[in-house]
Amino acid sequence: MNKVRFGIIGIGKMGSQHCMRFTHGLIKNAVLTAVCDIAPERKKWAEEKVVPKGVKFFDDYKSLIDSGEVDAVLIATPHYDHPVIAKYSLEKGLHTLIEKPAGVYTKAVREMNELAATKPELTFGIMYNQRTNKLYRFAKELVETGRLGQMKRINWIITNWYRPQAYYDQGGWRGTWAGEGGGVLINQCPHQLDLFQWLGGMPVSVRAHTEIGKNRNINVENDVTAFMEYANGATGVFITSTHDFPGTNRLEIDGDKGKLVIEGGKLTFTELAVGETEFNAVNKKFMPRIPSKKIKKHIGLLGQAKMFLFEQHTGIINNFVSNILFKTPLIAPGEEGIRGLTISNAIHLSGWTGEKVTLPIDEERYIEELEKRKEEERASAKKKV
Ligand SMILES: NC(=O)c1ccc[n+]([C@@H]2O[C@H](COP(=O)([O-])OP(=O)(O)OC[C@H]3O[C@@H](n4cnc5c(N)ncnc54)[C@H](O)[C@@H]3O)[C@@H](O)[C@H]2O)c1
Repeated sequence: MNKVRFGIIGIGKMGSQHCMRFTHGLIKNAVLTAVCDIAPERKKWAEEKVVPKGVKFFDDYKSLIDSGEVDAVLIATPHYDHPVIAKYSLEKGLHTLIEKPAGVYTKAVREMNELAATKPELTFGIMYNQRTNKLYRFAKELVETGRLGQMKRINWIITNWYRPQAYYDQGGWRGTWAGEGGGVLINQCPHQLDLFQWLGGMPVSVRAHTEIGKNRNINVENDVTAFMEYANGATGVFITSTHDFPGTNRLEIDGDKGKLVIEGGKLTFTELAVGETEFNAVNKKFMPRIPSKKIKKHIGLLGQAKMFLFEQHTGIINNFVSNILFKTPLIAPGEEGIRGLTISNAIHLSGWTGEKVTLPIDEERYIEELEKRKEEERASAKKKV
């Protein structure tokens, strides 16, 4: 194979952007050959935009996967379907790239991962496009090379997802337990929850306060404060909401050898001349300061535009194609989608029950609690799908 034939399943807002990445020549060594959507208006869009370019349209994902027209699929449907369609596609021998989140609950995602593990010849990826961001990549390098030292604390305040009532009132699957499987955690935060674990590792326990429909008439959480503990004694705090304006997006990681802050497109790393533990062991002063230097990185507006066009989603798809053709290591292996989702599910479970949740979570209990909320949603006068 010298060109990978791609099918895109779900050509709504995100899937249609992915189509354009192919038709505008941003994806190398691959060609878009088929698209699929169940909505008649998306069929019309495909007939105007991509069918004239030789792309076939299907209104059922199984027909697309079984058609023989594609070697790989990109799944951009609503969340519950990601593991369902991915399992079908992997079973049928197709390379599979899923949109985030990997799914709504870990049981379905674990089963998808178990199937993927039996197909090592297939490339399985997830659209964690924020992993291509240069600032997060530099942060990862600081963690992995040991320059940050042993992590003591990781805090992320990500409250700049402002969504007014009009956003939730537009209808469809968003903002409901049945349609989406949650609120800000499952819709807006999967990238940050992935980066939280990519940089900080997996916590061992989670305690959380989640508020359903704070200042909004919705059924799902839109205000979250979660506290996490790690095996080495480090702690983490993750705060998110969709009703603060202006919001904040600030990630801070404190390590024994320095402190990393990412905010407003800027990264500042304060690197200590000597690790705090080593300094403290010999220091005799009461209020000392540890000598340090600052390393700064910044992505300006032009850099952000370039990143959006050529890195981010485009970068993940190109990397996925390179893995199929040349075995280039994947930036975001599909199996890793379960990690951020586990934290998300643990936050939900703790918020719902008021209990401290230890990881791995009780996946059956999660499904039981989720089903209760879907049932309440069906019975309530609030938003339904
Ligand atoms: N990576 C990112 O930065 C990013 C950004 C936005 C959305 N997303 C993800 O992309 C996915 C889609 O989001 P969106 O905003 O495009 O939603 P959307 O509602 O605009 O599009 C979803 C499309 O899937 C179609 N669809 C639903 N079920 C289907 C099925 N069984 N088979 C085929 N088509 C089906 C719908 O008709 C719709 O056109 C979500 O999982 C979302 O989280 C990712």
